[in-house]
Amino acid sequence: MSDIIVSPSILSADFANLERDIKKVENAGADWLHIDVMDGHFVPNITIGVPVTASIKKIARVPLDVHLMIENPERYIEPFANAGADILTFHYEAVDENKIQQVIKQIKSFGVKAGLSIKPKTSPEKIIKFLPYLDLVLVMTVEPGFGGQAFMEDCAEKLPVIRANAPESLILQVDGGINDKTGRVCTERGANSLVAGNYIYKSPDIKLAVTSLRCA
Ligand code: DX5
Ligand code: ZN
Repeated sequence: MSDIIVSPSILSADFANLERDIKKVENAGADWLHIDVMDGHFVPNITIGVPVTASIKKIARVPLDVHLMIENPERYIEPFANAGADILTFHYEAVDENKIQQVIKQIKSFGVKAGLSIKPKTSPEKIIKFLPYLDLVLVMTVEPGFGGQAFMEDCAEKLPVIRANAPESLILQVDGGINDKTGRVCTERGANSLVAGNYIYKSPDIKLAVTSLRCA
């Protein structure tokens, strides 16, 4: 048994057939479902919000890994926790430095796992002091906003820095342009959770795609 957590991004699913496409990845062995929440401000795209997340919760068998690409994430922690998020990841760049600790605490107060994400231009040193309080760190390997972009290899160099300074239990996740090859680049550097949208959903064999990431 590998300990890589595979989290398919439903951003690449057909939203008119969301339940069908969720079952496809669950049946292929997905560990989590990655839900990309975008507000049109923090990133230039708008995607899924609280009501859709609550509907997904009713039909999902696996934990909901919610990636908040929004400004003022603290306003939306409670609604997403109530909607059934199991992991809530917010962006370092979206919150004042001195409020990050508070947001982590807020997430945990709902019994939800707390994640912090950094964009490609943010250095890993910025978040080292928060590592003891976090369940997950998400290192973006593309500029957040859209699926289907090319993996930025430089970003993977942040992974060993974070791994070396983190408690053993920290889940280190990557997101953006992940496939079996780029996934391997990341797991070799300490990642143990892979998010993938296009690689999984555009594959002719979804089960094979999920398995190839688990073995990456
Ligand atoms: C991008 C999102 C990703 C996206 C990944 O901002 O955070 O989760 O869906 O898509 P792929 O794997 O296609 O790059
Ligand atoms: Zn994401």
